[in-house]
Amino acid sequence: MRETSDDATTGNVVETAPTPPATPSSLTDRISDGLQNAVKAVIGSNRKPPRRFKTLLHGTWLGHPLHPAITDVPIGAWLLAVIFDIVWLVSPAASVWAARGAEVAVIVGILGAIGAAVTGLADWSDSYGAERTVGLYHAGLNSLALILFIISAALRLGTSDGGSVAGVALDIVGLVSVLVAAYLGGDMVFDKGVAVNHTAWEAGGDDFEAALPVADLPEHALRRVMVAGVPVVLLKMGDKYSAIAATCSHAGGPLDEGALQGDVVECPWHGSRFRMRDGKPLTGPATFAQPRYDVRVRNGMIELRRA
Ligand code: FES
Repeated sequence: MRETSDDATTGNVVETAPTPPATPSSLTDRISDGLQNAVKAVIGSNRKPPRRFKTLLHGTWLGHPLHPAITDVPIGAWLLAVIFDIVWLVSPAASVWAARGAEVAVIVGILGAIGAAVTGLADWSDSYGAERTVGLYHAGLNSLALILFIISAALRLGTSDGGSVAGVALDIVGLVSVLVAAYLGGDMVFDKGVAVNHTAWEAGGDDFEAALPVADLPEHALRRVMVAGVPVVLLKMGDKYSAIAATCSHAGGPLDEGALQGDVVECPWHGSRFRMRDGKPLTGPATFAQPRYDVRVRNGMIELRRA
């Protein structure tokens, strides 16, 4: 989940991770590289302002990844379509409403799948390694399902009652495809940790804990400290202190190594920007806020407590 890139603000090259030894790229890597570049060309890059469209697709405004919330629509609608299909096939008395029901469900699923595809591609464009490969297969199977259901809808719209035997066959194959894709999507989350809040397991004590002598904290510079065994990034601006978790909620990047612009820190890995005073993500791909810490000064020491 790391990258090396040009900093759009300063023009400097930001070294973010050791460069892995060169290995011959596989076909899936070459396809993924090309597709990720194409996606970023359309929806924008995390490091090129204003980043609004890409941030919108990630769900930063929602405080939750948008893609998994939308995926329920095509899965549910297409499952319903197949149920209507079976009723239509086995029950002549229900043929008209069942065929119309399947037709509507297929179309609703197509609309949901388009939304899921666009938001999923935005998330996938920031992925690397094994998760990127699994994500490519996940997208491929979902694309196959979408194509099959579009053909099914076209066949149905060409009939007087919405019923189509060929459409039923396409629906069943499409549903199998989307369910296998859903399994791979779950694998990305539960096995590879994609789209989970990487600060979710960080504990916080009830009491303030001494973190750093005041004299050791320079003005307007990020400083990493440990509080209750958790890395925290600390900032002093005039007489105001702010502190948030140093582990980026998106994929675990070190925020203390990020670029600081005013009160905003930019993650060195994928460019998410967080407000230091409250941990709020301003631009994606991060969607979850950083845990915030209360700060006080006692006897020349900066003390922190998880807010
Ligand atoms: S780790 Fe991805 S933006 Fe921070």
